Amino acid sequence: MAKIALGVTSSVSIYKACEVLRGFQKAGYEVQVLMTRNAARLISPLLFSSLSGRKVIVELFADDHPWSVAHVALARETGLLAVVPATANIIAKFARGIADDFLSTFYLAVESPVLIAPAMNAAMFLHPRTQANVRELRARGVEFAEPGRGYLACGDEGVGRLAEPEEIVARGLDLLRRSGSLRGRTVLVTAGPTRESLDPVRFLSNRSSGKMGYEMAREALARGARVVLVTGPVALFPPAKAEVVRVESAAEMEAAVLREFPRADIVVMAAAVADFAFAAPSGRKIKKPGLPESLAVVPTPDILKMLGARKAGQVLVGFAAETEDLRENALAKVRAKNLDLIVANDVSRGDIGFEADDNQALLIDAAGRVTPTAKMSKRELSREIWNVLEEILVRRS
Ligand code: C5P
Repeated sequence: MAKIALGVTSSVSIYKACEVLRGFQKAGYEVQVLMTRNAARLISPLLFSSLSGRKVIVELFADDHPWSVAHVALARETGLLAVVPATANIIAKFARGIADDFLSTFYLAVESPVLIAPAMNAAMFLHPRTQANVRELRARGVEFAEPGRGYLACGDEGVGRLAEPEEIVARGLDLLRRSGSLRGRTVLVTAGPTRESLDPVRFLSNRSSGKMGYEMAREALARGARVVLVTGPVALFPPAKAEVVRVESAAEMEAAVLREFPRADIVVMAAAVADFAFAAPSGRKIKKPGLPESLAVVPTPDILKMLGARKAGQVLVGFAAETEDLRENALAKVRAKNLDLIVANDVSRGDIGFEADDNQALLIDAAGRVTPTAKMSKRELSREIWNVLEEILVRRS
């Protein structure tokens, strides 16, 4: 069974890490504690080695490491890295890739899911730099056990209090449970809009932010899949470990998807592919005096429909963005495109769908079964969708 690496940094709530350690042990996991030097000043590593039954690692270079390259050797055996409590400093180091002690070096070496439970003064947590670091790590696939509001060690009331140990343990165990469920599978995800050129400076595009597709890719990675992410131009960090193929136009997306399709087990077409392109794009910038009165457009290839026609065992997932008759239109698309699942969202609402962080959808499978979801973050929705997809995979095998 995989080990849990528990990173402990120097927040006053450090004593609660003992409870988290106990929780993981109760679930049957062996826990290796990694402390920063400051944490080891705040509380003796001896306490953690007594609880864990293993020598705590603090130093990157120590004579008594039983391994030659300890952080790499341990990384191979680790199923989860949980950092409890996490200071602003360790979050900043992880976000920037600074590796100047054992824990920060280990973060770069480990391929397992990472869960961070921040605990610090409210001003430090809400500082734009810390918030930016959290956002960046999240985008790259790190999970956060959000700090709560409450009485803080500094005497202030505010956000920054370590999440409850039971919640941290539950989140960690959930990550471990999901972490291998797509192992051995190759997932092809498309995301973002496409751009159809009119001339070298102008293009036709749409409001897709790419968030839903990126979350689908991130969750597939968290579940152990190999992920190829074919992405249109978006302003997002790609999840770590995804094989990223950047494209612009629908034609480029088509070429990339068709190239990857034979090796894919599951294809998630979350991209908002432009439905039409300019009939006669110009190689030179069109000058104002030469502007035509109208611009002719031609339909782009329906990539998903093409895949539906040639699928050989792949599970095909489409997205439907509708402003009316959501259910009927989505059902028709499942059939017309020979899909295994469609995720239908209502884009007439501003609080969900395009550009928003939240989403709410109807999941409709090939048999016409409709599962409505609650309104939730795109990250949570990606989990729901993958749960349904895993059921489809189980039914197939
Ligand atoms: O028919 P509609 O464009 O609404 O279908 C949406 C689904 O089809 C999405 O999954 C989208 O990625 C995919 N699609 C495509 N090629 C297009 C248009 C849409 O693969 N040209």
